[in-house]
Amino acid sequence: MNAGPPSVVVTIDGPAGSGKSSAADALAQRLHWQVLDTGAMYRAAGLLAIERAIDPADGASVAAALRACRIDFDWSVSPPMVRLDGRPVGEAIRSPAATAAASVVAAHPEVRACLVESQRRIAADHPRLISEGRDQGSVVFPDALVRFYLDAPVGERTRRRVRQWAAEGRTADPREVEEAIRARDLRDSERAVGPLRKPEGGVSIDTGTLDLGEVVDRLERTVRAALAEHRIVAEA
Ligand code: DC
Repeated sequence: MNAGPPSVVVTIDGPAGSGKSSAADALAQRLHWQVLDTGAMYRAAGLLAIERAIDPADGASVAAALRACRIDFDWSVSPPMVRLDGRPVGEAIRSPAATAAASVVAAHPEVRACLVESQRRIAADHPRLISEGRDQGSVVFPDALVRFYLDAPVGERTRRRVRQWAAEGRTADPREVEEAIRARDLRDSERAVGPLRKPEGGVSIDTGTLDLGEVVDRLERTVRAALAEHRIVAEA
């Protein structure tokens, strides 16, 4: 249990391909804070369902499997690597099958409740944390110091995904990628629990016309101003 002062959390929400993971990693490096990739937790839950031959649409069974299993991170590597019962699964969670399963399991309220509880526990153990995902500022940490919302036009997000896949040696049909992004956006924003939406009082950034350095400059400036305003030191 953490008995020290409350942790300082900055959240970055946004849809697939908005650049939030790269921005969160870069901001964490600049501030020397830790970064929580909550998408990796939903992906690990999707992978768990596949490995246990559980139908991802069966929320009660996925949640039961999750409660019996430990999802945590190896914080000694950068960025931290997600683990299932201590086993690193950082590569397997990026497969198309795990990606599709993650999106389905993420719609179940009981699955989200499990992972939201883990995310809040992780924050309590890390005094300075950047947490990125779809619902981090809007649901999980509504009192976060700064709640960012990153977005970009769907065409730009498609181009980024295709480039990222090409860099990983995978070919992709841009039309199929765009269709998959649109379908995921719809599922993420229409689900009843933890839907994708801009956090109240959040800071929106359109990353469509900015490069990564410019995005991170804006994030860093905003966080440092908020730290100064609340008289919080950047290092814990
Ligand atoms: O950001 P990502 O592509 O790694 O996310 C994987 C899936 O998990 C995606 O379908 C959205 C979902 N997700 C979520 O519902 N809530 C979060 N906080 C993070 C991810």
